Amino acid sequence: MTRKVTKAVFPVAGLGTRFLPATKSIPKEIMTLVDRPLIQYAIDEAREAGISEFIFVTSRGKNALEDYFDAAPELEASLEEKGKDQLMKVLERTNMDSGAIAYIRQNRPLGLGHAVWCARRLVGSEPFAVILTDDVIAGDVPCLKQMVDAYADTGGAMVAAMEVAPEKTPAYGILDADDAGPDCMPIRGMVEKPAPGTAPSNLAVIGRYILPPTVMDSLTNATAGAGGEIQLTDAIAKEIEAGRPVNGFRFKGERFDCGSKAGYLQATVAFALAREDLGDELRDFLHRTLAMKTAAE
Ligand code: UTP
Repeated sequence: MTRKVTKAVFPVAGLGTRFLPATKSIPKEIMTLVDRPLIQYAIDEAREAGISEFIFVTSRGKNALEDYFDAAPELEASLEEKGKDQLMKVLERTNMDSGAIAYIRQNRPLGLGHAVWCARRLVGSEPFAVILTDDVIAGDVPCLKQMVDAYADTGGAMVAAMEVAPEKTPAYGILDADDAGPDCMPIRGMVEKPAPGTAPSNLAVIGRYILPPTVMDSLTNATAGAGGEIQLTDAIAKEIEAGRPVNGFRFKGERFDCGSKAGYLQATVAFALAREDLGDELRDFLHRTLAMKTAAE
């Protein structure tokens, strides 16, 4: 089995209810951190990890996503005419080669596992990456690149993992593994959203995966799990039950949960502070605002 990963699946068919009313007509993935949509961060990370085939699992109302990666001839012509080379460069990152990107529909939101399964024919018999665009990870080396490099040695399946506070474990898929283990550690099992106090570790699964095609077979036979949804975690747990290796990978970097309002706001501030053109102004504003608030209290 090859250990080169060239395909990535982006499940973007969820309803995004936590961001209503915005997500009534705007796909969550088009929402921006400063001026780049969440999906652009995911695509850039995949490219840097060597991914060359991008598979989007979409749903009704996500047309803005398809347009985002298409050419924009009128806009490009206008920028060129005005000599706006810098903006032309910015747009270049949004262009995808013809044939590099595929869209497939999930016609009902039956869960993340089901969304991944919808891509089975495009994935074929190769290992593939899954990227959840909600999880934006800032780091010197992009998270998926760290994983692809580790996977070249380990093979098997790999899930990104991050330590969370014990009281937060019911909100995540949790690894049955040694908290104090090495960065890349074999796992004994996985449990989706364990009841408080029952989590086997404090290591939570984050939205980056490298999966063997056998996961698609498990998903074919899957039934609804936690929350009445077909869970990807359950299919990965089946890999372990079948005696196939699954590794947890403790990545280096800071993860923002942009599927939640608090996480999205924190990411917006962190990314804006890191920008040369905005950082100083925002820092001053935050200092002033916090000082005024403290004084008022
Ligand atoms: P979430 O659990 O965040 O659900 O899905 P959601 O619908 O996006 O958002 P909320 O909870 O209603 O606010 C995690 C990822 O799985 C995808 C989502 O698009 C998101 O990237 N997903 C989820 C699907 O593609 N299909 C599904 O049926 C469920």
